[in-house]
Amino acid sequence: MKPMTLLFNEDAVTGARRHISDGAVDLILTDPPYGIAGDTLHRHYHRKEEFVVDGYVEVPQAQYAHFSRAWVRQAERILRPGGSLYVMSGYSNLRDILNALAETELALVNHLIWKYNFGVYTTNKYVSSHYHLLYCVKPGRRPTFNTYCRFGPSDKNADGGAANYLDREDVWIINREYKPGRRKNKNELPTELLKKVILYSSNPGDLVCDLFLGGFSTARVAVGLGRRIVGFELSKSAFRHGVQSMKEVAPGSLLRLLPPVAENGHANRGRRWTPEERARLLARYAELRRRGETKRGSIDILSEEFGRGYFALLNVIDAHARS
Ligand SMILES: C[S@@+](CC[C@H](N)C(=O)[O-])C[C@H]1O[C@@H](n2cnc3c(N)ncnc32)[C@H](O)[C@@H]1O
Repeated sequence: MKPMTLLFNEDAVTGARRHISDGAVDLILTDPPYGIAGDTLHRHYHRKEEFVVDGYVEVPQAQYAHFSRAWVRQAERILRPGGSLYVMSGYSNLRDILNALAETELALVNHLIWKYNFGVYTTNKYVSSHYHLLYCVKPGRRPTFNTYCRFGPSDKNADGGAANYLDREDVWIINREYKPGRRKNKNELPTELLKKVILYSSNPGDLVCDLFLGGFSTARVAVGLGRRIVGFELSKSAFRHGVQSMKEVAPGSLLRLLPPVAENGHANRGRRWTPEERARLLARYAELRRRGETKRGSIDILSEEFGRGYFALLNVIDAHARS
């Protein structure tokens, strides 16, 4: 059996080279150090840091472009074709990350904005209350994008709006988690945001990578959702604390807590197959396989096109192969 967790107290770039082979990773979700003296930032904003895990390793601003190029190149190498990369960034050094991405084959699909509560309070300029989340894919195969993983086609939100459409808008309003009196990492990402990325862009059993684990929030949510995780954290104390926190997570435990999706996201679920639909499905499946799609990738595509779940499609395809 493949291990659920591979966590290393190492530099992300040399660690990735040493431990991850080409194309091994399905999804990278990462939040690199800011390059803005983030290790001392709280002094400027008079924040209390007594519950923040010490040992945050910052990257000097002058090295940020070089640093970004080095880890982005590794990200490109370790992603499988069709794999996804999500990078969280503030605005200060965003251009270095965008430039580094532009030097690779990775395609920028969405430039998402994460809008959070409690921005940094300022009076002489606007209050900063968002981060950038860059969603890229590696060309070569159809990326995993589970359109109906959170809301079905006919789900409504409290105001009667189309929940699926609203969930897929590119501005995400998600509150930071308030953890009074509990140890956490600087800028720990909210579980809600991590769950959203992981559900849309990976499947249970997939390998998720976080090159900069920090408080291990991505690692905990990935394992909680039944994914495997590989990741790196340079700080000894953050690593020790993070590894300890992984003991609180049972693999797959978050899957049981997910709210049910109306119609399971599949508009034709439970509807009887007509001979015509069956024939159309088999013809389209053959066409996708000829095009070079894998069996799994083809069924994912067909699931969207035919409005039916994975196993319903698999049954028809396998029954035909046996006949
Ligand atoms: C912004 S934080 C990640 C926060 C994380 N997303 C969370 O929710 O807790 C970036 C982390 O990268 C670590 N780091 C800095 N340079 C690194 C490197 N070269 N390799 C691995 N980790 C590094 C820092 O110590 C810090 O914990």
